[in-house]
Amino acid sequence: MAGRHAGRQDWCVDPPERRGDEAWARDRGQPRALRTRAAHEPSERTAMTPVSHPGEADAARVGEPLPDPRSGPEKDAALVQRMFDRVAPRYDLANAVLSLGQDRHWRRVAARAAEVVPGEVALDVATGTGMLADDLAEAGAQVIALDFSEPMLRVGAARMARAGRSDHRWVAGDGTRLPLPDDSVDAVTIAFGLRNLPDVDAGLAEMARVTRPGGRLVVLEFGQPPHRAIRTAYHAALRGFVPAAARVVASDPRAYSYLAESIVAWPDAAQLAARLGAAGWERPRWKHLALGAVTLHQGRRAPTEDQGRRAPTGQGRLGPEGDGPGTEGAS
Ligand SMILES: C[S@@+](CC[C@H](N)C(=O)[O-])C[C@H]1O[C@@H](n2cnc3c(N)ncnc32)[C@H](O)[C@@H]1O
Repeated sequence: MAGRHAGRQDWCVDPPERRGDEAWARDRGQPRALRTRAAHEPSERTAMTPVSHPGEADAARVGEPLPDPRSGPEKDAALVQRMFDRVAPRYDLANAVLSLGQDRHWRRVAARAAEVVPGEVALDVATGTGMLADDLAEAGAQVIALDFSEPMLRVGAARMARAGRSDHRWVAGDGTRLPLPDDSVDAVTIAFGLRNLPDVDAGLAEMARVTRPGGRLVVLEFGQPPHRAIRTAYHAALRGFVPAAARVVASDPRAYSYLAESIVAWPDAAQLAARLGAAGWERPRWKHLALGAVTLHQGRRAPTEDQGRRAPTGQGRLGPEGDGPGTEGAS
């Protein structure tokens, strides 16, 4: 998908109204009741409670079915959650191996695109072990690191403790029902998480709800390389190399078959940009990384009239540690 270059040379834009994409139209036409059910019944374990039993025996569930790789009402959020619970122990190692060491770089690029300045509040949705949260914190943000997989959060919190670093605010919660007030954060990020939501549009709208006027969204996701030959080779590698390598490094190798299929089924950059726009994000734009295997999206909340005249920084309004709703840690 070529897209149209905007302003800075390497960002592309493609307004939704210029596109006649079939899959997007079909998705928007989903019955409301189904979409609502998917967004509101992800799992009985998404409550905002800290984890009390580290190391629980998720191995017992290794034989259960994998989630539907397509985002939509077919995807069972509870299966997604348990799958990530199982991969948590070796998640960071598997990422480094399967991305050939590139994943850290991609997240750093995403953190820069969030444009946080010291003192701002950044929410990292589907944070996993919090690697992108780390990069946002390094830029000076106060970070809320949210995920519905408590084992993933525990791995991240343990890494921070080992490094003796000041911690994020770890929150066990659902990305489609964020436990935060309206307009409460300056920037939202989500890295390799959006694809896993059962209702992508509900997730994007929810992220818009909690972001203050003028705030930013950054989505880092696997993408569809625009060049057809590269795309074909990439899909073949996903279905061959990824599951094979996962058998060596991952805690639950089967999860990486889901990963491959969910990437193949994922929309291209222009389609996803259109969905950002429909969810209330202005000026959606994207850039390809790794020949389009990964895509970085950025959108903004419309600024207030007053903000339009000055630089929008540090206006998120999250209370002090432990003060607001949804602030119990999972560490
Ligand atoms: C592929 S991992 C990405 C983790 C991390 N952002 C990274 O860059 O490595 C996807 C994460 O999304 C989380 N996730 C999936 N659906 C979610 C939902 N509905 N609410 C919160 N987290 C979710 C999973 O638990 C998992 O940690």
